[in-house]
Amino acid sequence: MLMRQNIMITQILKPTLRNIKFAAKQLRQGKLVAIPTETVYGLAAIVWDKAAVKKIFKAKKRPYFDPLIVHIPKGYDYSRLIRFQKKILEKITEKFWPGPLTLVLPKNYQVPSVVTSGLSTVAIRQPAHSICQKLLMELGEPLVAPSANQFGKISPTSAQAVKEELGGKIPYILDGGPCRVGIESTVILVEGPKKLKLLRPGGVSIEELEKVLKIKIQKSKNARSGKSSGQPIQSPGLLKHHYAPKKPLILLPTSKWKNFVFKNKLKTVGLLLMQGSAENKKKYFEKFLQKKVICKSLSSNGELSQIAQNLYKELRFLDQSLAQVIFCEPCTKKSGLGLAIQDRLTRAAHKIL
Ligand code: TXA
Ligand code: MG
Repeated sequence: MLMRQNIMITQILKPTLRNIKFAAKQLRQGKLVAIPTETVYGLAAIVWDKAAVKKIFKAKKRPYFDPLIVHIPKGYDYSRLIRFQKKILEKITEKFWPGPLTLVLPKNYQVPSVVTSGLSTVAIRQPAHSICQKLLMELGEPLVAPSANQFGKISPTSAQAVKEELGGKIPYILDGGPCRVGIESTVILVEGPKKLKLLRPGGVSIEELEKVLKIKIQKSKNARSGKSSGQPIQSPGLLKHHYAPKKPLILLPTSKWKNFVFKNKLKTVGLLLMQGSAENKKKYFEKFLQKKVICKSLSSNGELSQIAQNLYKELRFLDQSLAQVIFCEPCTKKSGLGLAIQDRLTRAAHKIL
């Protein structure tokens, strides 16, 4: 671990076999390593290492009431983590693991309570990213990993983005390239064999889950507002303000942008569009708004998987640009990944429809 004048130097490790073994060794010694997954990058420690898990909360400035997801290697006997009949879960895990689906289940007593924020449940998932799986297999132990960002900020989808979020606070980032899915996993609370509740929409759509499992999934109305609520924690991922850029994100249909720009005397505005050519749209909006415009488009044709993949990357870009505010049009498709995309935008936004 490199230090300069008491500041930790954050090293990005290329995903060679040697570096994967090195990362595993560091984790075994209680050091933190940011890891790639197919959804977003995570900040990892071995699940049983309480001191290392505490370091995660410190590096992220994450409140201790927000529990972590446990990532398991392929073939891992997860009955060490949960108290639930594995047979009942087979249908879900066979179809959706490895992948962006997290299951919340009654926890086994061995799982440290710092991981679960003292809850009686634990969240587990088997990630699909090949480098992440190689690391997990090398370790033979599960890793806890929240998204590798400062608490409440934009999740990172590249090694460079992790460095921007946590550089100087963590020693290593294992570079697995850009994340394929681009938004976090779907979190489902398993209350019984046929009783599933959605806690956070994400990389696996509700429609897909319902179709394969032939059951209706309940939507959680219990959006938690923090520890002061006194309510039992359902999912802190449902906090109202989350995934937020530093600049104001204004979530409004494009037709309302002009009025807002006029009222707020803005000079340079960032635009985040769902589809089309950023170059053409920039020309159009520069004329329409009569302002300097920095424009990003999330997809060429409105395909939701492309929008999700680019969402955090482009939001981060605009946040670092000269734009004074970022306008974003809402995602009007409410099915499939559209639900998760709009969920993230709403939580990131300062002003909504
Ligand atoms: O895609 C993902 O899920 C990424 C990658 C790194 O795996 N991880 C991620 O972790 O998004 P994090 O910590 O940013 O979000 C985890 C969410 C939080 O909303 C947390 O409250 C919820 O999962 N969660 C974890 N354990 C829980 C539990 N026992 N009960 C309810 N919600 C839980
Ligand atoms: Mg997060």
